[in-house]
Amino acid sequence: MGSSFFPALVLLILITQQIRATTSSSDSNGNGESRTLSFSVFQHEGLNKTGYVMVEGVAGPPVGPTTASFGNIYVGNDPFTTEFDNSSKNVGFAEGEYITTSMDGYRTLYIATYTLQIEQNDSIWNGTISVLGTVNNERNSTLPVVGGTGDFMSVQGYVFSYPVDTKDVQNVVYGVDFHLHWPRECNHAMNHRLPP
Ligand SMILES: *[C@@H]1O[C@H](CO)[C@@H](O)[C@H](O)[C@H]1NC(C)=O
Ligand SMILES: *[C@@H]1O[C@H](CO)[C@@H](O)[C@H](O)[C@H]1NC(C)=O
Ligand SMILES: *[C@@H]1O[C@H](CO)[C@@H](O)[C@H](O)[C@H]1NC(C)=O
Ligand SMILES: *[C@@H]1O[C@H](CO)[C@@H](O)[C@H](O)[C@H]1NC(C)=O
Ligand SMILES: *[C@@H]1O[C@H](CO)[C@@H](O)[C@H](O)[C@H]1NC(C)=O
Repeated sequence: MGSSFFPALVLLILITQQIRATTSSSDSNGNGESRTLSFSVFQHEGLNKTGYVMVEGVAGPPVGPTTASFGNIYVGNDPFTTEFDNSSKNVGFAEGEYITTSMDGYRTLYIATYTLQIEQNDSIWNGTISVLGTVNNERNSTLPVVGGTGDFMSVQGYVFSYPVDTKDVQNVVYGVDFHLHWPRECNHAMNHRLPP
């Protein structure tokens, strides 16, 4: 019994070290800097202000703050600000095509590219992030990040989108939280952000 216990203990220690090594290398890029980036913005959407109905849907509720009829295609160019207040600092915009895909009018196939200039940790992150997925306009939703350009080249992760103010169809506000990371083989994408 004693002789089989020792190798098992060594194995356990080795496994534990392996897990630690994996965890720390996925969090840092060797310069000890984080390989993850999180930030939040607010998206301001206004019917006939920042976006228009391009194709009217065929069945279901009319266009409202969170609804449109099935098949409706809405194209928007919505500003992003740092705070809920639409006069707070502008940090970019969302170019998107939003297609209503449920008969109750709440679900949307969401195709968008976000152009962003985010100030974080004494750096400016300037580039685009593209997202593609389905949201429920009245609920918290998660959208996969499908890629990026500029300082967001090779980025992965997701955005969490949640309705903040949906009373007025001309002033709808969503919160958008970005949860981004860069895979290990994409050091080049982040290294230019870091001190030498
Ligand atoms: C920014 O700073 C925060 C807190 O100091 C840290 O947790 C985070 O990892 C940093 N992010 C980047 C991208 O360096
Ligand atoms: C938006 O424009 C469409 C088409 O011109 C019009 O039918 C609709 O009433 C407008 N809605 C608002 C809220 O301005
Ligand atoms: C900003 O928000 C206020 C309050 O919701 C609204 O009255 C105003 O029209 C908005 N301004 C712009 C430029 O959308
Ligand atoms: C962001 O990138 C664009 C395109 O490369 C460039 O035109 C713009 O000057 C950059 N802005 C900042 C603040 O770096
Ligand atoms: C939706 O997200 C917001 C912001 O994170 C949170 O305050 C709220 O509790 C969430 N609601 C639900 C039903 O999960």
